[in-house]
Amino acid sequence: MALRSHIVGCGAYLPDRVVANAELAQSLDTSDAWIVERTGIHQRHIAAAGEFTSDLAAAAARAALSHAGLAAGDIDLIVLATATPDRTFPATAARVQAKLGMTRGAAFDVQAVCSGFIYALAVADNFVRVGQARTALVIGAETFSRILDWTDRGTCVLFGDGAGAVVLRATAAEPGGAGILSTHLHSDGRYEDLLYVDGGPSSTQTVGHLRMVGREVFRHAVTNLAAVVGEALAANGLTADAIDWLVPHQANQRIMDSTARKLGLPAERVISTVARHANTSAASVPLALAEGVRDGRIRQGQLLLLEAMGGGFTWGACLARW
Ligand code: UT7
Repeated sequence: MALRSHIVGCGAYLPDRVVANAELAQSLDTSDAWIVERTGIHQRHIAAAGEFTSDLAAAAARAALSHAGLAAGDIDLIVLATATPDRTFPATAARVQAKLGMTRGAAFDVQAVCSGFIYALAVADNFVRVGQARTALVIGAETFSRILDWTDRGTCVLFGDGAGAVVLRATAAEPGGAGILSTHLHSDGRYEDLLYVDGGPSSTQTVGHLRMVGREVFRHAVTNLAAVVGEALAANGLTADAIDWLVPHQANQRIMDSTARKLGLPAERVISTVARHANTSAASVPLALAEGVRDGRIRQGQLLLLEAMGGGFTWGACLARW
């Protein structure tokens, strides 16, 4: 029997502290008007001192398990996407495993920066399809506030902290049935210098800070995302009018608008959280998904197109029926 992954639950967590653009403008040469006009961002959540990526991830995971009506003991795989692990090792996924009280199965991290959740979803989906896992937790969690250069107005205004999670369950693959229809991943390491962190255990023995040539990343994002969403639709013999919801990576409202425009999708069919969350890297897609499900916009049987692009460069898409 052919298997596919049914997304049976989702959850989110955002740290309590909210930092509005105006607060950043007190210490940086920037303005609320510039940030809103260029990005659509009004505010971001920032983790408290002592609150780690694994704490955010565990909170989102608990919410997703509760939504799915499952317990930690039901899970046999955790794949966690993050570029801001608690420690160089062990994997943050293993720390989350312990926090959830789960003692069996496997837990590991995936590192594809802002595309991390799509990568983690693809990895877990493939485990489920071949029968190596039956119930999987896929988490995107980040504390980007810890790797920002808070004196660089070109980057520090863009990011926030948060976590989102989904629970996958093996189900029979039936035509028109719910579940992940396909995932599509790409990377091109030639573009490393346009978006990277200038530290690391092997190179500098420091954590480092995020560096980005924003305008160039923007240009590649618009092109690569249009290509990969087209690829996902073509692989399933679908056209854009079949999509009920575009659930994009939340880097910049203008990038999301561009992808939607190319697909011919009206803004009402795009889940956008960037105004309130800013760019939460690997957490942004599951955060947007959880919001759309929680507020009732995303309903059973609807077709979702998830996409993301980030450092590496990496990019990817996923088509799923809710
Ligand atoms: O999630 C991973 C993927 N990341 C992305 O997708 C991010 C993609 N890039 C972007 O979203 C945009 O390129 C930015 C929002 C980062 C920048 O917007 P932009 O329209 O490309 O602006 P720019 O970088 O070309 O900068 C325009 C001007 C510059 O001043 P000059 O050189 O024209 O005098 C910047 O110094 O805006 C200036 N600027 C700022 N001004 C006020 C840059 N950051 C700020 C700021 N406040 N925070």
